[in-house]
Amino acid sequence: MDKLVIEGGTRLEGEVAISGAKNAALPILCAALLSAESLVLTNVPELNDIGTMLKLLAQMGVKVEREGHRVSLDASGLNNPVAPYEMVKTMRASILVLGPLVARCGEAKVSLPGGCAIGARPVDQHIKGLQAMGAEIGVDHGYVNARTARLKGARLFTDMVTVTGTENLMMAACLANGETIIENAAREPEVVDLAQCLVAMGAQISGAGTDVIRIRGVERLHGAEHRIMPDRIETGTFLCAAAATGGDVRLIGTSTGYLDAVVDKLMDAGCDIVGEKTPNHEAIRLIAPKRLQAVSIRTSPYPAFPTDMQAQFMAINCVAEGTAVMRETIFENRFMHAVELIRLGADIKIDGNTAFVKGVARLQGATVMATDLRASASLVIAGLVAEGETHIERIYHLDRGYEHIEAKMTRLGARIRREQA
Ligand code: EPZ
Repeated sequence: MDKLVIEGGTRLEGEVAISGAKNAALPILCAALLSAESLVLTNVPELNDIGTMLKLLAQMGVKVEREGHRVSLDASGLNNPVAPYEMVKTMRASILVLGPLVARCGEAKVSLPGGCAIGARPVDQHIKGLQAMGAEIGVDHGYVNARTARLKGARLFTDMVTVTGTENLMMAACLANGETIIENAAREPEVVDLAQCLVAMGAQISGAGTDVIRIRGVERLHGAEHRIMPDRIETGTFLCAAAATGGDVRLIGTSTGYLDAVVDKLMDAGCDIVGEKTPNHEAIRLIAPKRLQAVSIRTSPYPAFPTDMQAQFMAINCVAEGTAVMRETIFENRFMHAVELIRLGADIKIDGNTAFVKGVARLQGATVMATDLRASASLVIAGLVAEGETHIERIYHLDRGYEHIEAKMTRLGARIRREQA
């Protein structure tokens, strides 16, 4: 298993390009199942999770072609609406094939995603919504078995805001008979990006980005071309790395518009952040203060502070002036990075879903272990500011969601290398 070795103490400077969004690309790849014509996607990030999803679609009979960041999918030969456990267990987002398969094929056999480090993450809302649209769904031997002659439009309420739940139901509704209304819908920009792709394929969707999405079902969807939106969590991660190291960094191909809550908190911490927008160029520049001020956060669904940025912001608060109170309201076990940060000298107390982080003058390098995707990003940020060397083990977590992170960080002046552990 690989590990990252980081020599702390360098200030990040310069500019780097942000990749396409993992959490937009994953549902949009599944949207290809809804049509018998080809879907061509650009700006698709080269990540392990994307590779896993392409393999999952290919074994269903989808023709997949990939050249760098361009992917074309042709689901005219879709003949195996099954997502097996061996593939689903490595990536929970596989559940996103459920809605499209039921809508296109009238049947699906999808393994229940197993447990996950950050929480139980059930999929009951996905199932409840499809049942309300007329699917007969049984869960046996670890598989969701769904069947229907044709889904029918329905008025759906999700018990909580669920991103992939909203995405699954929105995709299923595109081919249903009649109108579907999803209330309490997720408003994340990735939901909007998926809706834009579906509309390009001929879907009739309004309200994406608000908490009420209306979908008028059509007989079939046609092919389309779509460019994946920039990754706002990669953007936020690099902004936090620049902030923690007292840096001056420009991120190209992304905009503050996708993560206002994070930008606000970074400004509260003392950073100067400027969004640049011209007709064919968008970028964000962050200039960090000498010492950051501690900033309290509370994670909530979009447009509030994203749970996917909580770990990275905790790394900032570890070296800021003052004490921050950080509340995680989305997942029940998303503080695993805290014990690893404490190994680096951080002063953190955990009480249920609240972390009290008291800034220290400096962290010391040590060997730490990545436990999940965003926790690993938090450890990279901490390693960049810790004195001496930090070794981060199990970085396969990191490779799921960050494209060429060590090359990008090196471009900004970080001393970081990958080694065989
Ligand atoms: C998406 O996960 C993201 N993944 C996650 O990003 C992100 O953390 C999460 O949304 C929250 O923003 C993708 O988009 C592929 P949810 P998702 O359904 O959809 C509960 C990353 O780091 N819930 O919005 O699985 C659930 O347990 C990943 O890139 C149910 O109880 O999250 C959680 O407490 C990590 N029943 C809350 O809702 C359901 O049927 C929000 O989960 C569905 C969800």
